[in-house]
Amino acid sequence: MANLDFIYQRKSIRKFKDTPIPKQDILELLKAATYAPSPKHQQNWHFVILQNKKLIHEMADLVTKSHQTIGNLAKNERDYTRHMSVINYYTCFKDAPVVILVYGCEYKMIEYKILKENDAPQEILDVLVSPQSGAQAIGAAVENFLLAASEMGYGTCYMTGPTHAKKDIEALIGFEKEGYELMSMISLGVPEEKTPPQPARKPLEDVITFID
Ligand SMILES: Cc1cc2nc3c(=O)[nH]c(=O)nc-3n(C[C@H](O)[C@H](O)[C@H](O)COP(=O)(O)O)c2cc1C
Repeated sequence: MANLDFIYQRKSIRKFKDTPIPKQDILELLKAATYAPSPKHQQNWHFVILQNKKLIHEMADLVTKSHQTIGNLAKNERDYTRHMSVINYYTCFKDAPVVILVYGCEYKMIEYKILKENDAPQEILDVLVSPQSGAQAIGAAVENFLLAASEMGYGTCYMTGPTHAKKDIEALIGFEKEGYELMSMISLGVPEEKTPPQPARKPLEDVITFID
């Protein structure tokens, strides 16, 4: 049997030691990310690497503020409190020594362009884009990164929660790339000694269907 421990041992890490990560290791992980498949090999990703503690903390503050602002839409205190109850899951990158911002751009589907120019009905065009191939490539790249990090003994957390503050984050870090948007973030570091166990999976038979 293949040794897939690096897959089975990965779990989301939300608490990190204050240990710097060698640049060489960060580059190795990013390289692993770029070996992910992407639609028509468009490699529609871009990675922004943050290691400045002050900047990372400021980014967490922006996410909290944005979350509070959105939470103010709640019509009562109870729903506001429920909304705010997830905030630690959106800011748990704040003590990571490295945070990777993962940008993605749209998958340029040639058939879509051709059919649109030929006045294909919108419902057909919608079916073509419904798999969100660009976003799937980002997921594949992030997963490569997480698994490579797991193999190298690092902890990571894949995060999309904080992206609601993307405009504020971009203003803070002074980065933008035309056509690209912030899709997700990865926190990276050496895990704290005691971290919560990996959550159990649904039984395999509940999530698979063989068709003979
Ligand atoms: C697309 C995606 C978005 C996620 N966003 C967050 C997030 O914003 N904050 C967080 O703490 N975890 C986030 N997670 C991590 C999940 O909570 C975690 O993977 C899941 O609970 C299973 O736990 P495990 O990764 O330890 O196996 C995200 C995972 C994925 C795949």
